[in-house]
Amino acid sequence: MPSIAPWWREKLLAWYDAHRRDLPWRSTRNPYPIWLSEIMLQQTRVAAVIEHYGQFLRRFPTIEKLAAARESSVLAAWSGLGYYRRARMLRTAAKIILREHKGKFPTTAAGLRNLPGIGRYTAAAIASIAFGEPVGVVDGNVERMLCRFAGKNVVCEELWATVNVLIDAKRPGDFNQAMMELGATVCTPQAPACLACPVVERCATRGELARSEKPAPQKKREIHFSLLCRGANGSGKVFLRQRPGNASLMAGMWELPEVAARNGASKPAFRLRHSITVTDYSVSVWRECAIPQAEGRWFAISKLKTIALTGLARKILSKAQML
Ligand code: ADE
Repeated sequence: MPSIAPWWREKLLAWYDAHRRDLPWRSTRNPYPIWLSEIMLQQTRVAAVIEHYGQFLRRFPTIEKLAAARESSVLAAWSGLGYYRRARMLRTAAKIILREHKGKFPTTAAGLRNLPGIGRYTAAAIASIAFGEPVGVVDGNVERMLCRFAGKNVVCEELWATVNVLIDAKRPGDFNQAMMELGATVCTPQAPACLACPVVERCATRGELARSEKPAPQKKREIHFSLLCRGANGSGKVFLRQRPGNASLMAGMWELPEVAARNGASKPAFRLRHSITVTDYSVSVWRECAIPQAEGRWFAISKLKTIALTGLARKILSKAQML
């Protein structure tokens, strides 16, 4: 299945190699300063972070120094950055790393997420930049950029699944920083610099998600999917197909096989509603027992969490209590 991912990686990383900003936390693989930079960047602009980052590191050059410091001195060094809860949690996390992890950072996004102040986005950023784990990040800039590229509003889980399909496994930290940087410096909220964009040739909107004067009325569509299972839920399997096409960002993601509308007396297993930009879908899910003709694969239900599913597939499988 041809995918847009290799093209995207090549274009993005070539752009990053030529245009990356020379930021002080980009010259190290030491997780302590990388962690500090990501916490500072959570709610603060790069320019303001640069001013405080060096000073903070001079005051607390190691995680041991930070863990041993009084809260008041950490808050003082944070002064001017705002959102002081971040500084309190930073110090608490430093103590936990020393006490419970012998001073060593957890090396995976899943491990990092157990620390205070580290959510999904920060965990993925640190794990990819400091430890080379191939996990994608979605921040506000990445979200805007991917929605413009796809020409539609992509929902949260689909964005995370998309970046995990796109990510470059050899340079995950650079890939993630390049994504955030392209969104922040080229695909800006106002007046995006499309001429400088490395992926503009396949961008659906070239800057703006088309906005009409009056919002278009929502279209209504019925859609039917087949939920094909075998085995018991605990050890069972479900049949999924990969989304076709090669020019779409969602190409390569997994979904349930679509089937034609049914008529007659039988009823679907369940129904749900799903909206994608201008269309409201009324979704019927049918339980099927036959071996499908469609191309696809059986997946262990216990592995579904690790698969790049579309947002709608995730919704259906959650409702079927398989996720
Ligand atoms: N925003 C948050 N962390 C970042 C990073 N490491 N590079 C670019 N933008 C960011």
